Amino acid sequence: MLGAALLWCALALVLAEALQDQPGFSQENFAAYTLPPSPAHYKATCEKIAESISSASQVFYPGELQFELDISHWASSSSQVPVCSVEPGTPDDVASILQQIARARVPFAVKGDGHNANPGFSSTPGVHISMTRLNHIVISKDSRTVEIGAGLTWADVYAYLVPKGFNVVGGRMNGVGVAGLTLGGGEWYSWKSNEHGLTVDTVTEFHLVSPNGTEIVVTEADEDLWFALKGGFNNYGIVTKFTLKLYPQTNVWGASLIFEGELADPAAEAFVRFLSWPHDHKASQMGRFMYSNGSVSFGLSLFYDGPEPPMGLYDELLSLTYTTTTISQGTFTDFILNLLPCYPSVLRVTSHSVRVNGIPMLHYTEHIMKAYANETKFWGDRLSQYDDNMLLFYVLEPFEPDFLTHGKPSAYPPDRSLAVLPSLVYVGWTSSSTDVYMADAAHRSAASLVEAAIQDGQDLKNAGPYVNYAIFGTPLERMYGKHLERLREIRKKYDPENVMGLTGGWKF
Ligand SMILES: Cc1cc2nc3c(=O)[nH]c(=O)nc-3n(C[C@H](O)[C@H](O)[C@H](O)COP(=O)(O)OP(=O)(O)OC[C@H]3O[C@@H](n4cnc5c(N)ncnc54)[C@H](O)[C@@H]3O)c2cc1C
Ligand SMILES: *[C@@H]1O[C@H](CO)[C@@H](O)[C@H](O)[C@H]1NC(C)=O
Ligand SMILES: *[C@@H]1O[C@H](CO)[C@@H](O)[C@H](O)[C@H]1NC(C)=O
Ligand SMILES: *[C@@H]1O[C@H](CO)[C@@H](O)[C@H](O)[C@H]1NC(C)=O
Repeated sequence: MLGAALLWCALALVLAEALQDQPGFSQENFAAYTLPPSPAHYKATCEKIAESISSASQVFYPGELQFELDISHWASSSSQVPVCSVEPGTPDDVASILQQIARARVPFAVKGDGHNANPGFSSTPGVHISMTRLNHIVISKDSRTVEIGAGLTWADVYAYLVPKGFNVVGGRMNGVGVAGLTLGGGEWYSWKSNEHGLTVDTVTEFHLVSPNGTEIVVTEADEDLWFALKGGFNNYGIVTKFTLKLYPQTNVWGASLIFEGELADPAAEAFVRFLSWPHDHKASQMGRFMYSNGSVSFGLSLFYDGPEPPMGLYDELLSLTYTTTTISQGTFTDFILNLLPCYPSVLRVTSHSVRVNGIPMLHYTEHIMKAYANETKFWGDRLSQYDDNMLLFYVLEPFEPDFLTHGKPSAYPPDRSLAVLPSLVYVGWTSSSTDVYMADAAHRSAASLVEAAIQDGQDLKNAGPYVNYAIFGTPLERMYGKHLERLREIRKKYDPENVMGLTGGWKF
């Protein structure tokens, strides 16, 4: 039972147990701020913030439990130790905090759920803002939309909505933050994206505290911010609440299959054949190559947004010879919790290092599958020499060719006529002494796969990696393409003082 989940959890637990050393923060981060002022200056800002906020909000200092929770990340290598953390409980308090920060020009961070794997994107040595108290979720009277506080995770949202027979187009994995995913385009990609598009395509309102502390509700009428917030990360202010469209949710069907050793290649080939024909848009799949025990394995997660897939849909894949399989029917939440590879929550509180890099692809072909298998073996053999507990896998996320047509132009993707499939390489390891080597491997392996795709005839010139997967250092032009100039103009207009430049992330 739960073959995939157990395998991944087991490996991850081994990794977690082996982890002793503190996260190394050796890479430069990409915040636009220059030299930080003295920490005494930071501390004074924390004190001013504490005076300016209401009793709904609170400031915490090192040594307090809440401080540790506020600053923790899914990958501890994305954490830094700030002077204080603050949990705003109201949008007004978010505005007060931002005004104090702007006045003192102190570096700061905004953390949704801390799933971004890049150092400095939601961490800082200055003032750390954790959105956790903005956790309200309210279904509209007509049940067509739902307001979701920026401190919630998709798991929270599903747990609330699914038993009521509703759902949103949200993240694929358990636990990712609503905010980072929605703003970054993160969890843009959903099990329901073939049906309804990206998460951002289903937003009807953003409640935004702009960099000067003004609270505004951004709707389709605000042409610029509407465009910019959908993929523009934290460049335009702090979002306190999202309104998303609601969809009915029935029970769903799912399967998880693992093919080890010599079963991997035939399974990957069968998956390519499967992808070559059009499917019911309620169906969605995810594939992965993984290095384990010196060899390459292939895994598949199959989903159908209904209690049973139509006759024949998954027959060929289900008739393959597998190492383990789990097939079940249940709630959407059961599927997310039980049928997906486990990114265990223990990892979120245990020291370990992770690098993720995005790999844009237009098609998964037999040639590309061979290249993936080769990369898995090549880097697996090398990286495991540095670290026995290293984790290496590649996630493939196919969607139907029309999946980007559900939405209007948005900051990301730069060109909706090109149905770029988000794919990623994930490297996890235990010792900070190998940080640079591992990050370099994530860069090089992604580049080799893009090269293999170009050789295979794919036009990837204008295909940027998904902004939520791309590793730090990826040129903005590659991800945002022709939208970059407009995004910069909009930033200048709404943040003339470059307050949001005091926080890390992709900076316009
Ligand atoms: C296990 C795992 C599974 C994933 N699954 C998916 C998936 O299925 N689909 C998908 O598309 N992506 C997925 N991702 C990628 C994910 O979307 C990104 O990592 C995303 O940035 C996470 O959001 P967060 O709020 O948890 O991150 P954080 O690290 O907290 O934030 C990310 C960025 O958003 C900014 N931000 C956060 N909150 C706010 C706010 N309220 N206002 C302004 N800026 C803010 C932060 O400053 C930071 O720069 C996954 C990542 C992981 C680790
Ligand atoms: C790895 O190989 C060892 C020895 O061959 C075996 O005992 C173990 O179960 C394997 N582990 C996995 C995850 O396949
Ligand atoms: C396998 O991948 C490595 C690293 O990218 C590359 O150097 C090598 O040429 C590849 N081998 C094959 C057979 O493609
Ligand atoms: C603050 O920003 C908002 C939104 O950009 C703008 O409407 C407002 O005029 C600005 N206020 C000040 C005092 O600059």
